[in-house]
Amino acid sequence: AGLFYFVGRLVDILDQLPGERSWDALWTAAGPELVFMAAMVLVVRTIVVGLAALVDEQTITPGFYNLVRWQAHRHVSRQSYAFFQNDFAGRIATKVWQAGQATGDLMESFIGVVWFMVVYTVTTLVLVAGLDLRLAVLVVIWITAFGWLAKRYLPAIRKHAEATAEAGSMITGRIVDSYSNVQTLKLFSADGDDRYIRSGFDIYLDALRPFTRRLTGVRMALTTLSGIMITAIACFAVYLWVEGSITVGAVAFTLSLVLRLNMLLGRLMMQLNGILRNLGVLENSKALISQPLGLTDAPDARELVVTGGRIDVKKVEFHYGKGFGVLNGIDLVVRPGEKVGLVGPSGAGKTTLANLILRLYDLEAGKITIDGQDVSEVTQNSLRANIGVVSQDTALFHRSLRDNIKLGMPEATDAEVVAAAKKAEAHDFILDLRDNRDRQGYE
Ligand SMILES: Nc1ncnc2c1ncn2[C@@H]1O[C@H](COP(=O)(O)OP(=O)(O)OP(=O)(O)O)[C@@H](O)[C@H]1O
Ligand SMILES: [Mg+2]
Repeated sequence: AGLFYFVGRLVDILDQLPGERSWDALWTAAGPELVFMAAMVLVVRTIVVGLAALVDEQTITPGFYNLVRWQAHRHVSRQSYAFFQNDFAGRIATKVWQAGQATGDLMESFIGVVWFMVVYTVTTLVLVAGLDLRLAVLVVIWITAFGWLAKRYLPAIRKHAEATAEAGSMITGRIVDSYSNVQTLKLFSADGDDRYIRSGFDIYLDALRPFTRRLTGVRMALTTLSGIMITAIACFAVYLWVEGSITVGAVAFTLSLVLRLNMLLGRLMMQLNGILRNLGVLENSKALISQPLGLTDAPDARELVVTGGRIDVKKVEFHYGKGFGVLNGIDLVVRPGEKVGLVGPSGAGKTTLANLILRLYDLEAGKITIDGQDVSEVTQNSLRANIGVVSQDTALFHRSLRDNIKLGMPEATDAEVVAAAKKAEAHDFILDLRDNRDRQGYE
């Protein structure tokens, strides 16, 4: 706002310059003031903008956004197997990402709002009041009407944003699901799942449209208000000039201040809009991310110590929460050194039983022990580190073969990686995969 005051002063200084137009005359009339104005523009303004950028672009953006994302991920990644089985990976990922985005944006908006309200709105008001109190009254009326409109129109934005975020993560979930199962789609789906994805877009648009309609409504209401107020203040400033109570420079200053205020209120509305929008998104993410962990280590969990490798399954009940079916009172003893094969029709529950021994799910009744230690009383990490699993479906991460092999033991040396591959009889075909850029075929 100070800049506009300077514009007004400069107009007045030039307008009222005694004698003829020259730098000398200008210097004697207002030299120090002009130097002061130049210093403010060159130095103070640069420092203030620089500080704001330090806080915003150098601190919040890299640090805060990603801190929230990382923490959200750390919590979600500890969720149970069932948590991920019952949801779309893409949907969960979107929410983790959005939580950081929304929290960071929220923080920036808060800082922005405080900044605009205190620094700009108040200084504008003070400067205008210095010219004529009646002008300040008009500005106060404007700000009050703005506040009233904001209060009336904005809260609905939060609800709309929440619904839109939900629909947005749903559609990402569907797309990721399709892409992850692309082989099945190529084999069996003539339209490559387009109809399913398309219907997701329809749901998303149904959530988005009322949202954008509301945004347009808010914008139109504000534009109407600012149009009225700018005209009123301009007329009044000219009236004051006609009366002879303010100078031409003051009229220029008032008008530029008013235009500035108009721009600022527009931005303030965007910030408030952003705050509510992000609150909605955050609420949506939070509902999923902050779910308590479904399956946790017991508070006094110990490390599993395998002495012989005896597995006892006693009266185990497990029905995937449906109350019946799958495993009803299973008893099984696997003695150290024994090789046991479970045979049964598809869907009998063989994989389920293996998953229960790994404690991917908690039992609904009964008990499973390994060398006398209840699987629900040892740490999940030590339990799974002690059990080797070769599953029906193989999975390769999109990383190098070396990294895939090192997944369970990130600190393994290259020699250990090669030894493991040899043991699995994979070393030879891995070397065959070598192309010229590779060091060993493991890249
Ligand atoms: N996540 C789940 N939620 C609900 N029910 C499930 C879930 N996973 C499996 N089931 C059901 O539990 C039963 C046992 O499944 P399981 O995968 O253990 O069978 P399986 O004996 O390993 O079959 P297959 O020989 O085909 O591998 C099936 O009826 C299956 O529909
Ligand atoms: Mg199975």
